[in-house]
Amino acid sequence: MNRIEVRVRPDDPTFAANAAAYRRLVDTLEERRRFVIDGGAGRQRSIERHLARGKLMVRDRIDAVIDEGSPFLELSTLAAWGQYGDEAPGAGIVTGIGLVHGVPWMFIANDATVKGGSLLPMSIKKHVRAQDIAAENGLGVIYLVDSGGAFLPLQDEIFPDKDHFGGSFYRQARLSARGLPQLSVVLGGCTAGGAYVPALSDEVVMVDGIGRIFLGGPPIVKAALGEIVEPDELGGAVLHTRESGVSDHLASSELEAYAKLREICAATNLAPVDRTTGWLDVADPEPPAHDPAEIHGIVSADERIPFDALEIIARLVDGSRFEAFKPEWGTSIVCGFARWWGHLVGIIANNGIIFSESALKATHFIELCEQRRIPLVFLQNTSGYMVGRDSEIAGIAKHGAKMVAAVANATVPRYTVLIGGSYGAGNYGMCGRGFAPRFLFAWPNSRIATMSAETAQTVLVDIRLAGLRGDRTSPAEVERIRAEVAEQYETQSDPYYATSRLWDDGLLDPVETRDALGLCLALAARQPAPPAGPAPVYRM
Ligand code: COA
Repeated sequence: MNRIEVRVRPDDPTFAANAAAYRRLVDTLEERRRFVIDGGAGRQRSIERHLARGKLMVRDRIDAVIDEGSPFLELSTLAAWGQYGDEAPGAGIVTGIGLVHGVPWMFIANDATVKGGSLLPMSIKKHVRAQDIAAENGLGVIYLVDSGGAFLPLQDEIFPDKDHFGGSFYRQARLSARGLPQLSVVLGGCTAGGAYVPALSDEVVMVDGIGRIFLGGPPIVKAALGEIVEPDELGGAVLHTRESGVSDHLASSELEAYAKLREICAATNLAPVDRTTGWLDVADPEPPAHDPAEIHGIVSADERIPFDALEIIARLVDGSRFEAFKPEWGTSIVCGFARWWGHLVGIIANNGIIFSESALKATHFIELCEQRRIPLVFLQNTSGYMVGRDSEIAGIAKHGAKMVAAVANATVPRYTVLIGGSYGAGNYGMCGRGFAPRFLFAWPNSRIATMSAETAQTVLVDIRLAGLRGDRTSPAEVERIRAEVAEQYETQSDPYYATSRLWDDGLLDPVETRDALGLCLALAARQPAPPAGPAPVYRM
């Protein structure tokens, strides 16, 4: 493979200004992550109460379980950002992948300092998404349970529907049946629905003094039966380990429980992260020849000024080497092969608008990767498919549809990163969330919407004016509509709005991207090859 000849250098005139602007984006990302972790002023009281009970903070719990030096790929840290009056940082739940004895596990851990660890709509979405990732990537799940169950004021948004609370238990039971171990450590009160997380687990450890499981807590028992009973007498660790058998192991402290959990993990017979099954071509990894941190200086501070996908790829792939496919044709999409932490991948990246040729080239390339069983990495930065009479005559609708159909039917592992704009059907053809990539991450400069705020102003103002008999609408009224549309689109295409709602699996600083995706690829390499599927009907 050839080394990419980069054109952007750190001493370029625009580099420093871009890098300074990106630094601000990264500072905001770090600040917001810190707020989720440390709690900000509003959560101090519940954090103090939690610590006074001798309990560990949720991320310290995970640290106590994973191997020393293990990475932890935390997912959707900023879920629920800006929602629920900012009272549910991270949606009160931490999910992510870490290694135990070299084996990757999915962690689902409640943060009891956020609404008692109870589950709001975004918490359930995050919990279920983590289970789906576990299912697709062949991971066992470790539940660190410290939760008041369903967040009762919003019960209609978390209880009855397909991917609500019931859906999480459905998934848990089916993951277990697939031989993906479901292990729980009970670290708080598990009431009602919450009791089923440990009860559906393959093995359970309960911590004496803090872990409790009951279908109805003491207040309910008092109301229903008139019985007055202490929490530990009703569902404590000793009762459940020695009498009911709901729990399998009794631990006298959190740390003892995590040591026990690690022993349990050691006897699950799962493949370590570095054991490949041989269906993916994996070589020795090599760092990129150009520093990934240079991406900060490449992404334009002004989002209307495009940046070159090859410059980004050169900062992400092994040795900055890239074997381009059809580099002379359909140039608004860059396709080619590279190694990513040693894994051979096919990369599809946008260089702006998708034209008919670019769509055909991408479709051809997807089919190549599908045939050769090579995972696909999509780097999204597009305003969508080309519009206009010339494009329509050239058949952009059917060519775009071919790309969309190829992406939808590709059975090789697919991964998506939003590195810039993700607009219109470009989001679909480039493997957006609706196309179920194994993981989807976004950069803090990304934007996602049906169209840009600028275009939306023109389109929506015209539509609204047509309805209002535009000729009689005053300029001030037109301006008001324009401002309203601009504000709506700017707010809703913001990456924090997107990550808050779990349209992605988390925001990444560009420099974190190589390692994050490297781990994701390693997960696929330890699984059996996914069976190839039939091709769809392509409209010619
Ligand atoms: N729904 C909504 N809010 C809940 C909740 C739930 N299921 N469980 C806890 N909370 C909230 C509390 O209202 C409180 O909110 P605040 O900080 O705004 O005051 C916060 O979480 C902490 O709860 P608190 O009871 O003070 O903490 P605790 O550590 O003493 O007890 C629990 C934690 C989970 C054991 C206890 O809150 C509890 O039993 N909750 C109800 C459990 C239940 O019946 N669930 C039904 C599930 S179907």
